[in-house]
Amino acid sequence: MKSNFEKLQVEIFGESHAEETGVRISGIPGGIELTFDCVKSLLERRKSRGGVWATPRKEEDEPVIISGLKKTDKGYVTDGVIDIRIKNANVRPKDYDNSLTVPRPSHADFAAYAKEGRISSGGGRFSGRLTAPLCVAGGIAEELLASMGIRMCAYLASIGGVKGASYKTSPEVALYGVSEEDEARIKNSDFPLLDERAREIMTEEIRSAAAEGDSVGGVVECTASGIEAGLFGDALFEGLESKIAYSVYAVPAVKGVEFGSGFSLAGMRGSEANDALTVENGEVRTLTNRSGGINGGISNGMAITLSVAFRPTPSISKPQRSVELSDLRECELAIKGRHDSCIAVRAVPCVESAVALALLDEALKIRDGIELYIK
Ligand SMILES: Cc1cc2nc3c(=O)[nH]c(=O)nc-3n(C[C@H](O)[C@H](O)[C@H](O)COP(=O)(O)O)c2cc1C
Repeated sequence: MKSNFEKLQVEIFGESHAEETGVRISGIPGGIELTFDCVKSLLERRKSRGGVWATPRKEEDEPVIISGLKKTDKGYVTDGVIDIRIKNANVRPKDYDNSLTVPRPSHADFAAYAKEGRISSGGGRFSGRLTAPLCVAGGIAEELLASMGIRMCAYLASIGGVKGASYKTSPEVALYGVSEEDEARIKNSDFPLLDERAREIMTEEIRSAAAEGDSVGGVVECTASGIEAGLFGDALFEGLESKIAYSVYAVPAVKGVEFGSGFSLAGMRGSEANDALTVENGEVRTLTNRSGGINGGISNGMAITLSVAFRPTPSISKPQRSVELSDLRECELAIKGRHDSCIAVRAVPCVESAVALALLDEALKIRDGIELYIK
């Protein structure tokens, strides 16, 4: 599965029940130092760490560098096409026996069967498992962006019907992104929230759905701060919103993306929706950030803010209607196996990774290349 970015090429390969998954990345100049810490952190945050929301399928997710990163005293240095693999260790194809002829409603099973005449075990290349190599690529991108002064942070804004704190309720976060202090706390949490107070009621929402063999959805928000006005993006098809949305929709189970105040702008008057301009410390900025840091497809200097809607996990043990494809008989399906009861929680680092890749592609486009910007 190859990306269609402009300067950066990202190819993710493997399947849920294959020997391994992995990623090949090209387009990053040679000679750039990396600690690899962001990769390790994103993989750790994506892991199933025993919460009620996560699959009991436990994976070590130890990235193995095949090429493209040379070991140095301080860490690594980029050197050609990066190829990194992750072993699939904890595979149980038996759990999926009946889903190879009976598609799981709203998973990729039926659409893939219509395209290819078969349903792959464990969701094949459509599985959330493929977001492990996505986080590897995202971690490299995030570290490169950090060395340009661009900071990213994603967190949960709602679970099922329960809303938590959001950039929409925090003018500070909407304007400047998540503070460094909150970012450190959020990135160390197994249930990342802007304000911890919603944790109990949100986890209870997941627990009660799971107890009924059901699942819940959620909204992940992401902010990227430190991007100069005019630096990234361009008009029409080259817009920054298009590029970020393109990348974020690569994450399975994403069903909506909005920037800034998004859909609610449609119900406002211009006088309410517009972000008034002002001058602060000799720089032009806006008093509000309902545009989500992007105007005309170009970064406007404010934090880029976006919300990403995740569907409830399609695989639920509660009986659902489906079809036995071998004889087109309608049937009932109660799904077995180990599934997340709320994808949104483990998807937080996946969103951050997808946004980082889109932004890195823009960084690679500017002026004389990224080398000039890395401090
Ligand atoms: C981190 C992550 C974990 C996921 N885990 C599961 C899972 O355990 N069970 C499941 O049915 N779907 C899971 N999914 C979602 C499916 O892969 C996804 O819904 C499916 O491929 C159909 O794609 P769509 O929802 O984008 O249309 C997961 C997605 C992500 C990002």
